[in-house]
Amino acid sequence: QAQQKQKAETLSDLLEKAGESYRKHLRAAPKAIEYLKKRGVSGEVSKRFGLGYAPAGWHGLASVFAEYDNPQLEECGLIIVGEEDSRRYDRFRDRLMFPIRNVKGECIGFGGRVFGDEKPKYLNSPETPVFHKGRELYGLYEARQALRDMGYALVTEGYMDVVALAQLGFANAVATLGTACTPEHVQKLFRFTDAVVFSFDGDGAGRRAARKALDAALPLATDTRSIKFLFLPSEHDPDSFIREFGPEAFSRYVGDATPLSRFLIEAASEGCDLGQTEGRAHMASNARPLWSLLPDGALKRQLLSEIASLAQLDTRDLSDIWAQEAARTA
Ligand code: CTP
Ligand code: MN
Ligand code: MN
Ligand code: MN
Ligand code: MN
Repeated sequence: QAQQKQKAETLSDLLEKAGESYRKHLRAAPKAIEYLKKRGVSGEVSKRFGLGYAPAGWHGLASVFAEYDNPQLEECGLIIVGEEDSRRYDRFRDRLMFPIRNVKGECIGFGGRVFGDEKPKYLNSPETPVFHKGRELYGLYEARQALRDMGYALVTEGYMDVVALAQLGFANAVATLGTACTPEHVQKLFRFTDAVVFSFDGDGAGRRAARKALDAALPLATDTRSIKFLFLPSEHDPDSFIREFGPEAFSRYVGDATPLSRFLIEAASEGCDLGQTEGRAHMASNARPLWSLLPDGALKRQLLSEIASLAQLDTRDLSDIWAQEAARTA
């Protein structure tokens, strides 16, 4: 345990050192500075997130680390070792760099964006002893004061969503890094705030992400917490929306966000015609696995009677039917 901790500290030291070098390179990279300007990111916000530039070329980090052969540079994901020729080269080349920090503020990885349409658009650090995508939220360290001040968190999909929201007054934004939102993500957020608004992209992928976030959030939806889902117009993500329509318009979307209880019912009703007996029965059956994820409490019990009433059943009957269904599928 102690040894593992020692090792982890060393890896983030290396990552921090690389980040400092990327920041230094940014000051001398007009292309990267121009790109940030074009996307509406000020110097101040760029500094807040420690944005940087990884220069083109295969061995930029050789001038940062005395020992380019240090196996820890591979272990922390900064250097790739060729499988066939075992030649070593920088993972991040000619990209805008976003350092990813843990809640203690230690650098644990990077995301790097290309400047044009090259693929992949973002390159991320691999899973390492210090970086676990399913546990870390981009921007959480930078957001922690705003979470206290504003009283809620905005959970987005991407790096630029977090940066653009912070730029325009929503410093309380974090991002799941292109992975599904996990219960661990939600649990981590609830250490800092008791209100969360999921704000994913308006496209199909974003709606699927919201549905996954519902599953992750349900077991943590205690009666004193607020969990909501914001749905943007389909062609927008938080970054493009707030820059096109402004912070007031985004605020209205936050105010109109769908509470978890309503989203649960909407999810269960998908494809069901509640005007028909069959559709109501189908909705009730769909709702059970979602509802059963909720911790016991007032919300759970109210939802039971709400779903019963939508299904035109007595609460007692619905409860019996669900108990039988649960016994059959157990
Ligand atoms: N992502 C990734 N690798 C990719 C594409 C996306 O890791 N090839 C992750 C990134 O964290 C990205 C997030 O998924 O920020 C959301 O993806 P997407 O909506 O496609 O990108 P945007 O964040 O909107 O990127 P941008 O605005 O810079 O074009
Ligand atoms: Mn509160
Ligand atoms: Mn997307
Ligand atoms: Mn975007
Ligand atoms: Mn997006």
